[in-house]
Amino acid sequence: MKALSVFVPLVLASLVLIHQNSGAFLKLTNLVCESSNQSWVRFDHCRLKAINRNKTVANINATFLAPATDISLRLQIQKKANGYKPWLFDVTIDACKFVRNRNNPFAKVIWNLFRNYSTANHTCPYVGLQRVKDFHLTPEKVPLPLPTGEYALLMTWTLNQEVTFVTNVYFTYTEDF
Ligand SMILES: *[C@@H]1O[C@H](CO)[C@@H](O)[C@H](O)[C@H]1NC(C)=O
Ligand SMILES: *[C@@H]1O[C@H](CO)[C@@H](O)[C@H](O)[C@H]1NC(C)=O
Ligand SMILES: *[C@@H]1O[C@H](CO)[C@@H](O)[C@H](O)[C@H]1NC(C)=O
Ligand SMILES: *[C@@H]1O[C@H](CO)[C@@H](O)[C@H](O)[C@H]1NC(C)=O
Ligand SMILES: *[C@@H]1O[C@H](CO)[C@@H](O)[C@H](O)[C@H]1NC(C)=O
Repeated sequence: MKALSVFVPLVLASLVLIHQNSGAFLKLTNLVCESSNQSWVRFDHCRLKAINRNKTVANINATFLAPATDISLRLQIQKKANGYKPWLFDVTIDACKFVRNRNNPFAKVIWNLFRNYSTANHTCPYVGLQRVKDFHLTPEKVPLPLPTGEYALLMTWTLNQEVTFVTNVYFTYTEDF
């Protein structure tokens, strides 16, 4: 028990060090937006854009044709290994509660990645144009110790208890050795 209590902080500390020293490399590789209810949510734009060899940004325009006040969001990270497999977390949150009190630590990590690029920084309801503009990730911004690999951040949105749309972001991460 004692050994473990020393070991765990050591491992965490070394992960943080590795993380901070990294000349690691992260690149968005694909973006998928799909609505299964076009009379509620429509994607006008959902594209990656290459800025240079190392930087790709994501842009999304979605229109909510009716106000959404009951929104649940499932957040999953998956890592590719013979297909995408669950990795690190799979959580479902009440999005309207979350924007009020930021109460879920995993959702908070994801929120912090997106918040400066999105129009979503307000409380429910969401209606009309919702936008993600020039979203990009750099290794320093991702506070997770990722091994080299291909990843998917799957976001599945349920409005009024019906799965209504998905916004899935795919990226590769290369550790610095
Ligand atoms: C699709 O959206 C419309 C408009 O908000 C809503 O009335 C309808 O119930 C939704 N359909 C499903 C299957 O969720
Ligand atoms: C892209 O990344 C490589 C490897 O990390 C680096 O050597 C190069 O300078 C970068 N190029 C640009 C345009 O940022
Ligand atoms: C996204 O919406 C903004 C604001 O209305 C608009 O200026 C922009 O042209 C739209 N982008 C695309 C690609 O539809
Ligand atoms: C978002 O913007 C704020 C204010 O400009 C800045 O302090 C913060 O570091 C930014 N967050 C990220 C994750 O880029
Ligand atoms: C989001 O909204 C909260 C509360 O209105 C505010 O404190 C925060 O600075 C905003 N963050 C960004 C990135 O706009």
